[in-house]
Amino acid sequence: MIKVERAYKMENRAVNFLRGVPADESLKEIQPLIAEGYKNAINKYGTDVLQYGHFGGFKPLREILGKFHDVDSERIIAGNGGLEVISLFFKSLPANSTIIVEKATYDRVLLDAFHYGYKTMGVEMTPHGVNLNDLERLLKTCPVILFYGIPFHQNPTGITYTQENCKAVEEICRRYNVICAWDVCYQQLRYDGNTNTPIDVSDSDSVLFSSFTKTISPGTKCGYMVLPEKMVGKVTNVIANTRINPNLPTQAFIADFIESGKYDEFLTFLQGLYRPRMDALNTAMNEYFPETDSVRITGGFFALIHLHEITGKKEELFIESVKAAGVNINSAQAAFATNILAKNLGKGLFVRLTFPALEPEQIRRGVATLKEMMLDV
Ligand SMILES: Cc1ncc(COP(=O)(O)O)c(C=O)c1O
Repeated sequence: MIKVERAYKMENRAVNFLRGVPADESLKEIQPLIAEGYKNAINKYGTDVLQYGHFGGFKPLREILGKFHDVDSERIIAGNGGLEVISLFFKSLPANSTIIVEKATYDRVLLDAFHYGYKTMGVEMTPHGVNLNDLERLLKTCPVILFYGIPFHQNPTGITYTQENCKAVEEICRRYNVICAWDVCYQQLRYDGNTNTPIDVSDSDSVLFSSFTKTISPGTKCGYMVLPEKMVGKVTNVIANTRINPNLPTQAFIADFIESGKYDEFLTFLQGLYRPRMDALNTAMNEYFPETDSVRITGGFFALIHLHEITGKKEELFIESVKAAGVNINSAQAAFATNILAKNLGKGLFVRLTFPALEPEQIRRGVATLKEMMLDV
């Protein structure tokens, strides 16, 4: 412990694993492009983007996204962020619905479902996606309306599903008459030199949610969903009664940004920026927690570590002593569905490690501190 505190004082830079934010370097890089992009968009589209209208999202952006996903642009609804479109979709579901989510998922989605009065159940996962037997088991317990999954660089585990697993999940959902909804907001954030194969919804009833928060900026807040044709009317009614039009200057800027090719260039920049950070996390996890059941991540923003030994009262003490040594973490409890929370009792502490806003050296020091403090508690 003394060794870590001394090291922290020397470095004097806290390691904050809690903030799921893009790196400052990425925002600085994109700032002039956004400034120019907004100015151009307002000049180019004029009062069209300052007036009510484009209720389902800025038409040119919907057309670009429609081409990207090989669907009619009417099936695209663009909104103010990924969470907004997820929430609008949830709002269109019947009262008392039951939703299946991954064992650990994006915590805001659980909260949003809870606020609509829906029940959520977590399905067990493997390093390659959903545990299909467990999915079928859950589907047999009660009627389910929706499966919600994050197939690329999952939040919070970092798991990426295999294509086979995605297809098998869709097939099971089809058999049980359950809507299959994929949140693909981390799809383009892969840093290991490979590319994720997009999920094809051109000819299926699956729903896609996505967001530009992590690929452009959280402040510009834009996300979208791709709906099967038969759901468009219902969700459009919800939108008309909720938010009317989205932020149109943002969507106009993003439409032009994508069309100019600068968005793709920026994604390449992000992949280069985040790769050494991801490598540092994988290397440190391997070195300090070789026995971990965490996956080796290939992109995204997160990894989840399960500290089996930190149980009961040790949890608070551990989080406090790690903080005193300059590393901020918290329990990832809020990410677990209720049925899983009961199973997790007494099984140790789960911690989500968010890495993109940290330098490789900080990531390594942070993971080393976790290990050192574990030996102390
Ligand atoms: C899986 C997932 N979906 C959606 C979002 C929210 O995106 P937005 O900020 O565009 O609402 C996040 C943000 O962290 C996320 O992790």
